[in-house]
Amino acid sequence: MVFKKLLLSVCAVATLSVAAADDALARDKLRVGTEPTFAPFEFMDTQTREFVGYDIDLIRAVADKAGYDIEVVNMGFDALIPALGMGVVDVVAAGVTITEERSKRVDFTAPYYTAGLSMLVRKEDAAKYPDFKSLENQAIAVQIGTTGADKAKDIPGAKVTNYNATSEAFMALTSRNAEAVVHDRPVLAYFMKTQPRMSQSLQLQPAIEDAQQYGFAVKKGNKELLDKLNKGLEAVRQAGEDKQIYSKWFAQ
Ligand code: ARG
Repeated sequence: MVFKKLLLSVCAVATLSVAAADDALARDKLRVGTEPTFAPFEFMDTQTREFVGYDIDLIRAVADKAGYDIEVVNMGFDALIPALGMGVVDVVAAGVTITEERSKRVDFTAPYYTAGLSMLVRKEDAAKYPDFKSLENQAIAVQIGTTGADKAKDIPGAKVTNYNATSEAFMALTSRNAEAVVHDRPVLAYFMKTQPRMSQSLQLQPAIEDAQQYGFAVKKGNKELLDKLNKGLEAVRQAGEDKQIYSKWFAQ
């Protein structure tokens, strides 16, 4: 009886110390900022209400190699870079194009994806607006703070409306509040492919401009984290995990 009691308390102590060891092993969380209306790079799964997409899988794999778990934080695209500066998030994973201008404010990892800008128009206007030049003096819908917004601003006479979400820019086009949407081509293509009802009256134009490379961003000067992420990215590539993630989101 005494022995049994002793055994029980030994077990209890053992359980306690396992729990303590678990805590000690619990990994730090990287706070990852994103703007989830940019499928297939980042969007909300309508069933699970989870953040999903190529960037989410990739940054999770990269963070894992660096010894971190991730916690995804949702914010406006134009708030992401300021949030890094204020220390609200540790990393931004949001299909962010590496530009000279942005490189003054944040540090980017090695590029992980190459894209270009393109334009979506209504089918009946396809001949009228074949390229960026034909959008002169027209109403253009873009997502706020993006390279697509910059591109549209540079088109002479264009009346540019900045929307918070990509989906709102698409709606402006279908509801005839805009003649075109200028945005990253893979995102326009994914919309055409996966939303046939919403996109059936629309056409993705072949025009592509400005090859752009996406990078993950960290606070300017956070060399320690930048190095860890670059090493993580390299390890993910060595293991071929990036290819698996790519085919998961870009198959066919
Ligand atoms: N690549 C473009 C840029 O950096 C668009 C990115 C938009 N990303 C997003 N998650 N909404 O400006």
